[in-house]
Amino acid sequence: MKDIIFEKCHQHFDDIVAIRRDIHQHPEIGFDVERTACIAADALEALDIPVRTGIGRTGVVGDLEIDGATRCIALRADMDALPIQEQTDVPFKSRIDGKAHLCGHDAHTAMLIGTARILSNLKSQLKVNIRFIFQPCEEAYPGGAQAMISDGVLDGVDEIYGIHVFPLYPVGKYATCPGPMLAQSDIFEITITGRGGHAAFPHLTVDPIVIGAEFVNAAQSIVSRNVDPLDSAVVSITQFHGGDAKNVIPPSVTLGGTVRTLKQEVQKRISSQLENLLVGIAKAYEATYTFAYQEGCPVTYNHDPCVEKVLSSAKTLVGDEDVIYPISPILGGEDFACYSQQIPACFVMVGAGNEQEGIVNMCHHPQFDIDESCMLYGMALTASLGLMK
Ligand code: NI
Repeated sequence: MKDIIFEKCHQHFDDIVAIRRDIHQHPEIGFDVERTACIAADALEALDIPVRTGIGRTGVVGDLEIDGATRCIALRADMDALPIQEQTDVPFKSRIDGKAHLCGHDAHTAMLIGTARILSNLKSQLKVNIRFIFQPCEEAYPGGAQAMISDGVLDGVDEIYGIHVFPLYPVGKYATCPGPMLAQSDIFEITITGRGGHAAFPHLTVDPIVIGAEFVNAAQSIVSRNVDPLDSAVVSITQFHGGDAKNVIPPSVTLGGTVRTLKQEVQKRISSQLENLLVGIAKAYEATYTFAYQEGCPVTYNHDPCVEKVLSSAKTLVGDEDVIYPISPILGGEDFACYSQQIPACFVMVGAGNEQEGIVNMCHHPQFDIDESCMLYGMALTASLGLMK
C-alpha cells in the first residue's frame, strides 16, 4: 500500500504545488477566505464529493461516503494567512501587501485537496467515511475551529487528524507526541491606578509605575515557586504602558501579557496567583486595579489510539528512524485544540525544512518557506490514515 500511496502522491504533486502557489499569491486573512474556500469547494466538487460551504462562516466540508461504512474520520486543513509582509524571494510571492502565507496554511489546503483526490481514486479500498474539513481563521481566537464545531462539523465524526508543516524538521520526517502537544494560550490585561502628581513630590502621589514594577517582578515567582518543576508554563508580561512626561508621575499604568500552560490545574493556579499578587501589592501601596484574564485556545491533546494510528502509518511510510517520537510539547497555540477537546484526535508535524536550500525559518517569520516536497509526505500520511479502519 505504501508504494501505491506514494505513486498517487507523485501523480498529483505538480498540480498540488500549482494550487499551493496560487493560494500563496492570494493570501486571505481570518474568516475572509472566500477565494481559498472556493478553490477547495471546486476541487471537491470535481471529485463528486458532496460539499457544504459556509460552515463556520467560510469553512468548507466535503463528505466522501463509503458504502457500508459506519465510522467517519475527519482530516482538517486551515486556510488563513497572516497579516505580515512576506520577505522571501520566491517567484510566487504574495501579491497582497501586508498579507502572506507564512504559516504554511496554503500548503495545508493544497495537500488536503491532494488527499481528497488520492482517496477518491482509491475509494474501493476505503473502509471508513472521510470528512474533509477546510477551516478559516486558525490564527485568531476564538476562530474557525470553534465556529465550525458550532455549525456541527464534528457531528458523526469518530476521530480527527491535523497536520502542520514544520521547517525545524527536515523533509521526510514526521513528529508528534502523546497527550498535550501544544499549549493553552491565555492573555491578560491589568490596570493599576494610583494618584498622579509632580515627580518632585512623590510623597503626595501613589506611583503606579513603582507598583507595576513590583508586580512584574513578583509575577516572575509564579512559574518558579507556584508551579510544579516538572510541569511546563510561561508567564510573560509583554506590555507596560504609562506616563507621558519625564517630570510627572502618571495616575495609572496598564500591563498586558500571556500565560501558556499544558494542564488545566496549572492554568488555574497561575491565573489565580496573578490576581493574588495584584490584590496584595495594590493593597500594600494603596492603589486600585482591574484584572481581565481571557482564556484562549485550549491545549491540543493527542489521544493514544489516534497517536498509535499515526505512528503506524508514519513508520510504514518513512521507516522508524524518520518518525520523531515523542517530541516535547510546544508552548505555541493551535486551534486544532478545539477539536481535540471534543473527540479523539492527533496533530502531527510534517518536516518541511531543507538546510542546503536555506529553508530553516520558523512559522510566522517574514522569510518562512517550505521545501515543497514536504507536501508529498503530508498527503501520504493523511491518505494512509484515511485508508485505515
Ligand atoms: Ni499554523
